[in-house]
Amino acid sequence: MRILTGLQPSGKLHIGNYFGAMQPAVHLQDQGEAFYFIADYHAMTSMKDADTLRANIQDLAIDFLACGLDPEKATIFRQSDIPEVNELAWILSTVCPMGLLERAHSYKDKIARGLDANHALFAYPTLMAADILLYDAELVPVGKDQKQHLEITRDLAGKINDRFGENTLTIPEVQIKENTAVVPGLDGQKMSKSYHNTIPLTGNKKAIRKSVMRIVTDSTPVEDPKPTDGSTVIALYKLFADDAQVQQMIDDHMAGGFGYGDFKQRVFDAYWDYFAHVREKREELEGNLDYVNQVIAEGAEKARAESTKVLDRVRKAVGLR
Ligand code: ADP
Ligand code: TRP
Repeated sequence: MRILTGLQPSGKLHIGNYFGAMQPAVHLQDQGEAFYFIADYHAMTSMKDADTLRANIQDLAIDFLACGLDPEKATIFRQSDIPEVNELAWILSTVCPMGLLERAHSYKDKIARGLDANHALFAYPTLMAADILLYDAELVPVGKDQKQHLEITRDLAGKINDRFGENTLTIPEVQIKENTAVVPGLDGQKMSKSYHNTIPLTGNKKAIRKSVMRIVTDSTPVEDPKPTDGSTVIALYKLFADDAQVQQMIDDHMAGGFGYGDFKQRVFDAYWDYFAHVREKREELEGNLDYVNQVIAEGAEKARAESTKVLDRVRKAVGLR
């Protein structure tokens, strides 16, 4: 089974990205032939500074490896190392009704948040479809917010196959991790870099502790029992703590006598321990960038071997060859 997913190098990874994207990807590398890529063309829709983009690409390559992706098992590559993806995106755009793109939530959300309504942002789903279809991906693990993009991908592949022949493109399945579908941010909304409510995956200990202490709670006095339903503190703690620790925290909420500062400290400690391994690995890789770059270069070669086959097939099917 061929598994594929991409992550945008659009800023430091946060734990929502980790649980929603990175961790499922790491698990899946043992279950099929995994292709994971750094979606740098996509990141250009929101990032305008060249040096920052360059640094983020490097950073994400390091994060992929630090989080446990194994280049012996998975192909890790950079989207723009295979620029032919733009050709497939073009071919797909010729069968893509305007209405399909106009209905895309992600586009509408981004415009509502103040991003420029440019063509790249609008056409994003056709490029994303090309990312997937260019590698004959069968399974695409993503967060809930990407579900519609996957529907569009399937739709476009179906249109190509209807018009040019059944086996032109492989129609992928989507996999959404329901139990970790949405990691809440410090304010209880979905964690997202655009809401400035994130806990970074790695970074300065003091600064991260300070952020964790900002998790929004109610103002129940220390001595009183505290609500457990809808608690962001508990929801976050569940990500890092074992069942017994979680039960203890729930009991302590219900008993009263514990302040939110205490609970948040437990969240921070559990978080810090949980990612110790990722931090260590990151440091090691930062001192060995030649290795990181070599992994990415080899990934591009492996990716190209696949993309060439698919693109040849598509070019013939549509009449370009
Ligand atoms: P952000 O919302 O911070 O901009 P992205 O949109 O770049 O994050 O998301 C990258 C990946 O991480 C996607 O697969 C997305 O579904 C996943 N992801 C982002 N935020 C969360 C979250 N809060 N919970 C679970 N998964 C998330
Ligand atoms: N749009 C995805 C996101 O913002 C990133 C992405 C680009 C992707 N191309 C992809 C994910 C192909 C899966 C498959 O998170």
